[in-house]
Amino acid sequence: MAKVGIFYGSTEGNTERVCGQLQEALGGEDIAEMHNVQSATADDMEEYENLILACPTWEIGELQEDWDAFIDELDDAELEGKNVTYLALGDADGYPDTFLDAPGIIHERIVDSGANFVGAWPTDGYDFEESKGIVDGKFLGLGIDEDNHPELTQERVDQWATQLKTEMSL
Ligand SMILES: Cc1cc2nc3c(=O)[nH]c(=O)nc-3n(C[C@H](O)[C@H](O)[C@H](O)COP(=O)(O)O)c2cc1C
Repeated sequence: MAKVGIFYGSTEGNTERVCGQLQEALGGEDIAEMHNVQSATADDMEEYENLILACPTWEIGELQEDWDAFIDELDDAELEGKNVTYLALGDADGYPDTFLDAPGIIHERIVDSGANFVGAWPTDGYDFEESKGIVDGKFLGLGIDEDNHPELTQERVDQWATQLKTEMSL
């Protein structure tokens, strides 16, 4: 069993594609397995010591539709002791006041679950006004903007993967 479960929702394919890049950067499918939340369950999440919750923000500060349907599963998942982080996709130019809100919405649901939150990422280099995805001055996980800065994605993914290898002991 792989050590990392990447659980993603993706309406237009950006998040799914970036999850593929992340899976590769972490060492391939022996290390990290991808699950679309459209067909995942709480039991699937419990298989992994490390979870990456990958979520674009949609509809001006809302969860992507498959995440919206899946989020109640988190109440049934035993997350205590697991390492959890977020991969967030958004559009800072188009939605500067709700940039990367989705991880903040998910985080609220699991903040008291006993999970160990890792993968915090600096906000430097991002141009936006407000985000619910920030705690203690950092993004809850990696922020990716495929709409405006796709050229930065691979470098950001590689750097974050290196950070996660340490923080998740991969
Ligand atoms: C109608 C619409 C609403 C959106 N709302 C937000 C938003 O509030 N905040 C944000 O950061 N990005 C927002 N986005 C940008 C998407 O999150 C971004 O395009 C993302 O890459 C989509 O990922 P996906 O292809 O995996 O669905 C919005 C995009 C659209 C088309």
